[in-house]
Parts: sequence; structure tokens; C-alpha cells
Amino acid sequence: MKIVVAGATGSLGRHVVAAVRAAGHEPVSISRDSGVDLVSGAGLVKRLRGASAVIDASATSSNSARKSVDFFTTVIRNLLSAEREAGVPHHVAISIVGAATVNANYYAGKVAQEQVLQAAPSGWSLLRTTQFHEFVQQVVGHGKVGPFQVVPAMRSQPIAAAEVAAELVAIASGDPCGVVPELAGPREERMADLVRRYLAATGQRRPVIEVPVPGAWGRAMRNGSLLPSAGARRRRQTFGEWLETHAG
Ligand SMILES: NC(=O)c1ccc[n+]([C@@H]2O[C@H](COP(=O)([O-])OP(=O)(O)OC[C@H]3O[C@@H](n4cnc5c(N)ncnc54)[C@H](OP(=O)(O)O)[C@@H]3O)[C@@H](O)[C@H]2O)c1
Repeated sequence: MKIVVAGATGSLGRHVVAAVRAAGHEPVSISRDSGVDLVSGAGLVKRLRGASAVIDASATSSNSARKSVDFFTTVIRNLLSAEREAGVPHHVAISIVGAATVNANYYAGKVAQEQVLQAAPSGWSLLRTTQFHEFVQQVVGHGKVGPFQVVPAMRSQPIAAAEVAAELVAIASGDPCGVVPELAGPREERMADLVRRYLAATGQRRPVIEVPVPGAWGRAMRNGSLLPSAGARRRRQTFGEWLETHAG
């Protein structure tokens, strides 16, 4: 089975490519480096021909609501249109637990992406997960301010991107099934604690300052709106176990 991975070089996408191979399928990688820009859509139909499914793991790095909505709606429209033309029967999308409650900043783009997807008559599956363990690396990268590490006050129940990737490939290997039950990591954590542990494990020494982020996004981070619902499925790997293999 040929499975296209859009956003193949990202935190999630690289694990999806590995999981496609591990499941005995053939991955087709898409990122700008591979010569296909998902925003222009040029060359997409050709790349999709012969595939059984597309897993969309692409993302924008922008936290602006306007840019995020532009990116995610343009990309999903281009993918769905190219899939129709190339005869690909299954689109697999990933979104974030609690995105609809926030519907601001980056999350506004995820909500808009979900809306475009759910307006499509059939042929799609949608998995919502919590933050990845790898998200801590992204927080560390964005939050260096002078000698300090600034971290949003945030409750999260993070999951390993590798475990999300395995789930996406299992979904892509079956028939389209619409919205599937949420997936989360094994336990609730506080983002500032995870960042402290990550900095210590990677030999970085700077004071961590936890700050409440203003607005709907910040409120949701603090009040538990980004935590999984009662019916969510949980995966095994803790942040500590992930850190042991990724700190180097
Ligand atoms: N990170 C989390 O904690 C988390 C949690 C739940 C759900 N999610 C969702 O999981 C998905 C992947 O997130 P991520 O954190 O893995 O993203 P990421 O690390 O930022 O990776 C984004 C990927 O998209 C590609 N990309 C960006 N613009 C592109 C374009 N114009 N054309 C082609 N490729 C493009 C990037 O490759 P190039 O830049 O090389 O083109 C890269 O491969 C997103 O839908 C995100 O909302 C993330």
C-alpha cells in the first residue's frame, strides 16, 4: 500500500514515515524540500497518483490566527482536491484536543481545517490528540528570552509522536471512519516541570519563568481545556521515558 505523508519532515511526520515503513507499506514524502509546496499545490496530483491514503502531518509555525487559518484551509483544500483528481480514497487528518474550545491563535487554523474536512462528504478520518512530548522542544526553542526560559502556564497530558504516528498509519490502513476517539499520553503534566526536566537532561542551565498567557488560548492552557476527555484512549510512553531516549 502506498501512503503519502504530507509534512514528512516535521516532529510528527518523520515518525509517520517510519511507521508507514514499519507496517510494510511504501511512504511517499511531501515537504517543501521534496519539491512540493502544499500551499501552491503545484505538482501534488502527480505525487498522489497510485496512493491508498494521505496522512496530513503538515503545519505552519505561525501563531497568528489569520496565518494559521490561511495555511490549514489552503492546504486541506489543495490536498482534498488533488486526492479527488488522483483517485486517492482516504484522507487522514490530525487535530488537537480542545482546539474548538480555544478557537484562537494557531488553534483557529486547526478548527478551520476540521470544518473544511467535515464538510467533505466522505473519505476522511480525523484523530485529535494532546500535545506531543516533542512539543516541549518547540516550547524551549520559542521561549528563550535573554538568560531566561519563559514557559506558558499550561496543563497537558502529552503523548509520544511515535505513538501518534503508529495510530495514524493504522487508521490509514483501514477504511475512512470519520472522527475517531481522542488519543492522549499516560498522565497529566505541568509544562514548566517538563521544560525544567528537558533543560536538565540536555545540560542547559537557565531559570524557568512560568507565565500566564493572556486570552482564550492562555485560559484554555491553564484551566484544563486541553486535557483529554473521559472517553479518550491513552498510550503508554511517559515524558520521562521519552526523555531518556531523546535527551541526547
Ligand atoms: N506538536 C504538537 O504537540 C501537536 C499536537 C497535536 C497535534 N498536532 C498536529 O500535528 C501536525 C504536525 O505538527 P508538527 O508539530 O509535527 O509540525 P512541524 O514539526 O512544524 O512540521 C511541519 C511539517 O509541515 C511541512 N510544511 C510546512 N509548510 C509546508 C508547505 N508549504 N508545503 C509542504 N510542506 C510544508 C514542514 O516541512 P518543510 O518546512 O520542510 O516544508 C514539516 O514537514 C499538525 O497538524 C499539528 O497541528 C501537533
